[in-house]
Amino acid sequence: MPTSDPALDNLALDIEGVCIDYGSTKRRTRVVHDVSLTVAAGETVGLVGESGSGKTSIAMAALGVVATSAGRILVNGRRIDPAHRGSAVAAGAQAVFQSPYSSLDPAMPIRAILAEAAVHLRLPRREVDARARAVLDEVGLDPRITERYPREFSGGQRQRIAIARAMMVRPRLLIADEPTSALDLSVQAQVANLLMDLQERHGMSYLVISHDLALVHHLAARMYVMHRGRIVEAGPADEVYRTPQDPYTRALVDAAPLPDPAAQRRRRARAAASQVELPR
Ligand SMILES: Nc1ncnc2c1ncn2[C@@H]1O[C@H](COP(=O)(O)OP(=O)(O)OP(=O)(O)O)[C@@H](O)[C@H]1O
Ligand SMILES: [Mg+2]
Repeated sequence: MPTSDPALDNLALDIEGVCIDYGSTKRRTRVVHDVSLTVAAGETVGLVGESGSGKTSIAMAALGVVATSAGRILVNGRRIDPAHRGSAVAAGAQAVFQSPYSSLDPAMPIRAILAEAAVHLRLPRREVDARARAVLDEVGLDPRITERYPREFSGGQRQRIAIARAMMVRPRLLIADEPTSALDLSVQAQVANLLMDLQERHGMSYLVISHDLALVHHLAARMYVMHRGRIVEAGPADEVYRTPQDPYTRALVDAAPLPDPAAQRRRRARAAASQVELPR
């Protein structure tokens, strides 16, 4: 249901004051503390942070898969309720995850993988097949691969199939959690460029999650930096990347490899001086 505030209706993702706890009622651990984050319609927003900082937990909560203990999440103005599986999909959200190996069922041919993504739309078979061919073409794959299986494809091609699967329902919000991290370096830029092309063509909103600040800087207009379950810095991606204010953001910037070894050494010395451990 639309809200009464037009500014909020223009947000693809609106997370406010969200806390996430794991564990049993007796032994609960809070891993996300009071996180607020927005993605405007058509905007690409980055969420960066070291391993274990809570990025995937936020993505899962936005997808309605993980319960929140406080706060609220709206996708395209609709409240996400983990008790109702599919509420995020119904609100127009889709996701692409890190591993194109585990996220595609090896027993299903590509046709079935793509059809399953759109099953709740109850489209006629002919329409499903037409969409499948169209999305494969859009992600740069031959539309005739539908009878083949995921194992027959490379990592980069599998990630394209995972992106095609997300595109089957023409999502308005795509949450990409480490979409290139499992791929060979040479393929990472191709997949990043594909995501940018698709966004330009369809005007989708993106939440791009990564520990790779350089990738997020490349893709996103704004970014949020997480550390131990909290947002420690947020702002225009360029500003955060060039003049990081928080020591942990600085550590993430410093962890991105530089082409110039001398510059790399200077940066390491600066990090050592600020006594921040560089993430691996
Ligand atoms: N299902 C779960 N049960 C209990 N603890 C969990 C669960 N999932 C994640 N955690 C813990 O919650 C914290 C945040 O994990 P999360 O996966 O959200 O971090 P992340 O930023 O995505 O890390 P990475 O960069 O390694 O993917 C970590 O301490 C993790 O061990
Ligand atoms: Mg993660």
